[in-house]
Amino acid sequence: MKNIVLIGFMGTGKTAVGRRLARRLKREFIDTDAEIEKLMGKTVAQIFARDGVVRFRSEEALLVKKLARREGMVIATGGGMVLDSENLLLLKENGILVALTASPEIIYNRVRSNMNRPLLRGDMKEKIRELLRERADAYKAAEITVDTDNSSIAEIVEQVTRCLLERNYMI
Ligand code: S3P
Repeated sequence: MKNIVLIGFMGTGKTAVGRRLARRLKREFIDTDAEIEKLMGKTVAQIFARDGVVRFRSEEALLVKKLARREGMVIATGGGMVLDSENLLLLKENGILVALTASPEIIYNRVRSNMNRPLLRGDMKEKIRELLRERADAYKAAEITVDTDNSSIAEIVEQVTRCLLERNYMI
């Protein structure tokens, strides 16, 4: 059974939806940010500050190589994971990609009080708009896209499940 891989910008709900979806489908759940934090014994913000973004990206790439060999999981990725074409290829080989989207305003409201997102430091609203523009194409790589602006976590989980079933992706 293929992995279900949640991709998308920060604050689109990948972790919350992934955890619930995994419970719903009785699958193992992995969050790549949390896994890297555990491996390195530091928060994402600390990794960016002490080791740099390049180190973080190489930890992501290493982790994807390990995950691509496994099956049947729900994987929530960090927002930058699929910007790397090799990561994308590996995740696609063994997984169905589900992109979660949200408008810049909603993203801002969801992430504004979270200090663990180093890429949004400074003028957060502007950073969100700028990065969303830069990354719009990367998130289009998904087989399924679900907008999360006006839905609860439970509703998003149901919508993703329905799409997966309709398209026979769960076999
Ligand atoms: C990043 C997103 C973050 C985390 C890191 C970089 C990005 O994950 O991996 O701060 O480049 O978009 P979330 O999308 O889970 O916030």
